Amino acid sequence: MPESLPRHLAVIMDGNGRWAKKRGMPRVMGHRKGVEVVKDIALYSAEVGISYLSLFAFSMENWKRPGDEVGFLMRLLDDYIERELETILSNNIRLTASGRMALLPEGTRKKLEAAIERSSSNGGMVLNLALSYGGRSEIIDVARRMAEEAKNGTLQPEDIDEEFFKSYLYNPEIPDVDLLIRTSGEMRISNFQLWRIAYSELYFTDKYWPDFSRADLDEAVQSFAGRERRFGKTTDQIDSPKSD
Ligand code: FPP
Repeated sequence: MPESLPRHLAVIMDGNGRWAKKRGMPRVMGHRKGVEVVKDIALYSAEVGISYLSLFAFSMENWKRPGDEVGFLMRLLDDYIERELETILSNNIRLTASGRMALLPEGTRKKLEAAIERSSSNGGMVLNLALSYGGRSEIIDVARRMAEEAKNGTLQPEDIDEEFFKSYLYNPEIPDVDLLIRTSGEMRISNFQLWRIAYSELYFTDKYWPDFSRADLDEAVQSFAGRERRFGKTTDQIDSPKSD
């Protein structure tokens, strides 16, 4: 894999509602078109050699949207799993999900769990759907588990360092985010991947998610390839690692 390709790409797929409104259509039509883009971008990411693709499909905060929009998004997720599972499997993609899954409707959750299980031995790209996901909730869930373990004596405060903390995140095998893309012109993180974006490169595009294309992904990856990632070090140290 070329070093210039992000190993973990995360995307905040924003602008579905505005895309639809611009066309005089109900917001949910933007989500429907958004799923088509999810299918294409996931396959393309696997094709170019991305190892982990995290997509922000539904946030903890999205539960506060009108009930009919939430219901529509859950049905879209159901349909996506039903219709795309064979393609996911035949492309050697491993499906996973991050978030408070217990909040999903039971039928959707079971379908998702079954799809995750069926793809679990695939060795290609990991497609991580962030569902009912919040970066703060993820960190709070870590803290709760650690507090439980501290209470029953299996965890000591000095056990906790960054490596250890990471191992309690959702899907701990998923590494830090290398490149975070947000569509629709907004320049916010919106509670996505808080722990894993500490040293991410950020890329913002004005395109609404339903208009995001393979060429737009190429452009983002190209921008990423041209960046110098120093992780707190100096340029000299990056250029000649022996001086560390
Ligand atoms: C943000 O657009 C997008 C969402 C809240 C949901 C993203 C969902 C999809 C792309 C489709 C579902 C995905 C899968 C995997 C089935 P917005 O509604 O906030 O747009 P706006 O900011 O223009 O209102």
